[in-house]
Amino acid sequence: MKIAIIQGPNLNLLGKREPHIYGNHTLNEIHQLIAQHFSNISFTFFQSNIEGEIINELHRCAEECDAIIINPASYTHTSVAIADAIAAINKPVIEVHLSNIHSREPFRHTSLTGSKCKGIITGFGVWSYFLAIDAIRYMLKGETIDHQR
Ligand code: DQA
Repeated sequence: MKIAIIQGPNLNLLGKREPHIYGNHTLNEIHQLIAQHFSNISFTFFQSNIEGEIINELHRCAEECDAIIINPASYTHTSVAIADAIAAINKPVIEVHLSNIHSREPFRHTSLTGSKCKGIITGFGVWSYFLAIDAIRYMLKGETIDHQR
């Protein structure tokens, strides 16, 4: 299984950027934790501060990957172009956020990009990525969860 993880603007500053909101892990550390925890999955990791580069990467991954996890960061709230790129992808795209965008400033409550995704996971810190990967595994393997247990 091949999963692309795409990270948006300012996420290269994780570790020193508002750690009370985004935690202490650097982006590299987060990627290492993911690769270690899901060692049987093949990941590509990409980060850009530039909208067009994120769109190009979405186009590339749409061909090469089974699913995409994207944290569009601030573009979540502004980018029709990234939302359109996601809408054109015929594979599962899951949006994640470290912080809970709904418990923050009102301008963060709208997700243009999330409206084109399969689902959104927001507010669980690094675990948002882990939960998204688990969701993809369930979806792609067609597994069902027994809610009775
Ligand atoms: C973020 C939330 C966005 O509102 C913000 O602009 C970010 C990070 C998050 O992961 O919590 O840069 O996407």
